[in-house]
Amino acid sequence: MTKMVGILPRMEAEKLTKKTILSGMQPTNDLTIGQYAGALRNWVELQHEYEALFCVVDLHAITVRQEPAELRKRTLDVAAMYIAAGIDPDVSTLFIQSHVPEHSQLAWVLNCMTGFGECSRMTQFKDKSATHADNVNVGLFTYPILMAADILLYNADLVPVGEDQRQHLELTRNLAERFNHHYSPTFTVPEPFIPKVGAKIMSLQEPEKKMSKSDANEKATIFLVDTDEAIRSKVKRAVTDSGTTIEYTEKRPGVANLMTLYHITTGKTYAEIEQEFSGLGYAEFKEAVGEAIVAFVRPVREKYQALRADEETLKATLRKGVEHARDRARKTLRKVYKKTGFVEF
Ligand code: TYM
Repeated sequence: MTKMVGILPRMEAEKLTKKTILSGMQPTNDLTIGQYAGALRNWVELQHEYEALFCVVDLHAITVRQEPAELRKRTLDVAAMYIAAGIDPDVSTLFIQSHVPEHSQLAWVLNCMTGFGECSRMTQFKDKSATHADNVNVGLFTYPILMAADILLYNADLVPVGEDQRQHLELTRNLAERFNHHYSPTFTVPEPFIPKVGAKIMSLQEPEKKMSKSDANEKATIFLVDTDEAIRSKVKRAVTDSGTTIEYTEKRPGVANLMTLYHITTGKTYAEIEQEFSGLGYAEFKEAVGEAIVAFVRPVREKYQALRADEETLKATLRKGVEHARDRARKTLRKVYKKTGFVEF
């Protein structure tokens, strides 16, 4: 008989040796194909190699005004979409940010270590305060500090995100180093994981601008819940330029963006795509891109609808996730509080 004494169950042992990834998305709208390309796609890839934690960042969402019932619904929508897009809840830890109060608690400590100037430099803060000029609240300003807390609480080694989060990751690294230096080594200094291709999917209507879930022009954005018809129509109406050939060049951002979406949904390289459409025009190209996106989105959307129809199971998955997340979070916060000088409770 094999001796089992002292041997950890395999999953537990793996969790102890694997490096950690953590990432999250705001439940402020349906998820877009941009978010999939820049982040979610890599979460799916990396979840087997790393101990993976993925949260729905509802605390971040209220930096912009939310309707409570809508926020509640969207938080579950986003969790269901993570799973529909390929996150395996038996492999990864899925949870809702506000269910782990340690995020806000660590954020406070980090708030007290961040310069006003550092937050003022954040381009996303500048952009958002321009688009939400009627509600430039302090939460919007300290948003990246809460994001740093999300990451540092789990000592994440790697954070898979799109290009627009690079600056926030830089701040997170600075805060980790600052705390470690000021007290003693506590936090892992995380690396961003920003893909070479797909880190910034552009708007279908203004290809020099990032595709955004909150674009007022809904033709600009493909959502992972869009119907086949909506996808076909958005791609067909996508703004390109007056050229005729299908070539990947930064000088023609509209065509380049569609080529990237074709690459993401079919796996074909840019060279293969150029060859496939050599001698053909924009109409044929757009039709193929539309069909490729439809073929990719349809099963995701259908799985999402099935998951969403069973809210109890979804909530049970999130309850299971939060237990593990809180365990890790509590340990880190306890250390941080102790080093900070708080009397132990
Ligand atoms: P959010 O919710 O705006 O977007 C989620 C992720 O999707 C990426 N993304 C894109 N990638 C490529 N092309 C696009 N057009 C595009 N649009 C969005 C984003 O870069 C992001 O990775 N602050 C974060 C959420 C967050 C977080 C965290 C992320 C909070 N805490 C901790 C990582 C770790 C945000 O607003 O993402």
